[in-house]
Amino acid sequence: MLDKLTYAGRKENFQDVKDDPGFEFVHGAIEDSNAVAEALEDGIDAIVNFAAETHVDRSIAEPDAFVRTHALGTYVLLEAAREREMRYVQVSTDEVYGSIDEGTFTEESPLRPSSPYSATKTGADLLVQSYFHTYELPASIVRGSNNYGPYQYPEKLIPLMVLNALHGDKLPVYGDGMQVRNWIHATDFARAIGHVLAHGKAGEVYNAGGPDEQANIEVVRRIIELTDASEDQIEYVKDRPGHDRRYSLSSEKVRALGWAPRVRFEDGLAETVAWYRENVWWWKPIRSGDYRAYYERQYGKTLS
Ligand code: DAU
Repeated sequence: MLDKLTYAGRKENFQDVKDDPGFEFVHGAIEDSNAVAEALEDGIDAIVNFAAETHVDRSIAEPDAFVRTHALGTYVLLEAAREREMRYVQVSTDEVYGSIDEGTFTEESPLRPSSPYSATKTGADLLVQSYFHTYELPASIVRGSNNYGPYQYPEKLIPLMVLNALHGDKLPVYGDGMQVRNWIHATDFARAIGHVLAHGKAGEVYNAGGPDEQANIEVVRRIIELTDASEDQIEYVKDRPGHDRRYSLSSEKVRALGWAPRVRFEDGLAETVAWYRENVWWWKPIRSGDYRAYYERQYGKTLS
């Protein structure tokens, strides 16, 4: 595994697998070709590019890291794969399709990204497709919907709301809270990526969406119930600029290969809340570190 360990990456996140046979960690960036070469030294037969700057709000405030990681980083990995004739899988997102009010996106839907985050992810997808068409690189793309589960950095909706709820802090809902997201548990998405790596066709794109869609305000209300917090903590705040209203993915193509999500949102959310309750050791250093300054910049409020 090659990882830059940016603000959202920590060795604690892979402590459960670090002693597994075959696991090796190289500290470095995907845009650094020397680090990539070191990570690919021996016994590696495929590259799966999970590396990304993922947070839409950060891409709006400071897009530069997004361009570097998604454009340059993907290029460096593709070149490394081409040189070594390796299988390549790009981990992508439903955000490349933009927002959809009704119906669901298929792999044939037009690409209409709306934030610097999703635009740079779209650029990376197109570069991957060009390497298939031009150099016959055996590359596939997997586009996931909103991931959630343990170990998720608390800038994202679910962990942010869980930790704020547990601390008695305000729960900042953007706009009217009626934006809809298609939630997929991280373990289901990980299985989808493995499935495409093993069974997907080169040159193809596969959507992997979760089994349930829910409006943000409903997610927040459920978190309030699960944490015994109060509805008074909800605070409607200024909307995200260019905020996508709804994401929805059709996953028929990867389902036809034999994958299906296993975790319903209701169960996965309850388990995730329980995980954050029990794993104070994991989030305490984050909530008392740089994240506080980020939160103040983003929300104009201090965390308790
Ligand atoms: O759809 C897949 C995408 O899901 C991934 O490609 C992105 O990397 C990932 O960050 C996520 O994007 P979203 O923008 O949908 O996730 P986020 O957790 O930031 O927000 C989810 C929804 O909740 C969105 O409608 C914005 C809203 N929200 C978010 C935060 C952080 C709030 O209302 N308040 C908040 O404080």
